[in-house]
This record gives sequence, structure tokens and C-alpha cells, in this order.
Amino acid sequence: MADTAATATSETAVVTDDGIRRRDFLDIAAVSAAGIGGLAVVYPLISQMAPSKDVLAASSTEVDVSAIEPGQAIKAVFRKQPLFVRRLTGAEIQAANAVDTSSLRDPQTLEERTKEGHEDMLVTMGVCTHLGCVPLGAAEGEVKGEYGGYFCPCHGSHYDTAGRIRKGPAPANLEVPEYEFTSDTVIQVG
Ligand code: FES
Repeated sequence: MADTAATATSETAVVTDDGIRRRDFLDIAAVSAAGIGGLAVVYPLISQMAPSKDVLAASSTEVDVSAIEPGQAIKAVFRKQPLFVRRLTGAEIQAANAVDTSSLRDPQTLEERTKEGHEDMLVTMGVCTHLGCVPLGAAEGEVKGEYGGYFCPCHGSHYDTAGRIRKGPAPANLEVPEYEFTSDTVIQVG
């Protein structure tokens, strides 16, 4: 590249002295330099975009659900946000399944919001879909709202026992994150 540039410089100087060719060479040299600079900048950006092992570990959360009794919920943290894991009672499952989903603002069945064989385990983000407050209902003694699930005190959104929005300003059900059972008693979220 350096040889080529030197040759081009001397050829330009020899062939013409009117400054036009020389300017052409300078433009080409400038574009080449920009191309090299561009590569140098792009590579670190690409390597930064690949998540490190630390980031991957932090992006998933394991929760042992074995101690959660029917009717109880626990709060965990997933990607720095509250996560609710709730074991439904038979009555709460029945109440969720008795709802005509066509009447819902965000129609979903309990089955669609849980894992096969684990319909009693409701895993949702603890983040109201209105403006992001943390709803009540996961901790012992907290109000659960008119539909027995969760209640957001910020502006009065009521979620049912499947975490579906039933009343109030929230536009959607509590989000069910990506998760799977890695054993009968442990879930991995994310
Ligand atoms: S943030 Fe929950 S109702 Fe507004």
C-alpha cells in the first residue's frame, strides 16, 4: 500500500504538474484512510455487542419454587425488575378458567400464560403495564384487587388470578417472561 502510494505520488508528479492529478491522488488517499478508520471503529463496536459471560449470567434468573405453597407468591428479581412467582390454589385456577376470554382487554387463557403440567405456577413480571409501578398482591397480607390477583395502587389497575388486566388503565396483562422448568422445582427465567 505504501509502495503503491509512493509510486502513485511520483507518477503524478512526473506525468503532470497541473495539480489536478495530484488532487485526485489526495482524495483517494483520504478515502482509503477513512476506510481504515471506519474498520477500526466498527470492530470494537461489534465485539461490544456480543454479550460477555457475565452479562449472559445476569440476564437469567433461577428460582426455586418448591417452598411456595398454594395461594402464596414470592418476589424475585429478573434483569433488575421485580418478578412474581405464584402458586395458584384450585379455586384461583377455576376462577381464571371460568372467564370468557373474549371479554378480556388482552385475551389470554391461563393455559397460554403457564407451562404445560404446571398450570398452577404463574410467573409474571411485577411491573404494571400502565406506567410501570409494582403491583400489590405478591406479599403476605397485601391487597390483591377485585379479581384476586394483583392490584396496582398507582392508578387502580386490577389483575386477576392469571395476572390478566381486568379493570383500570393498564392496557395489557402482566408480562410473562421467557422461562422454563429446569426441574420440577426450579425455573430458569430468561
Ligand atoms: S402504573 Fe399501575 S395503574 Fe398506573
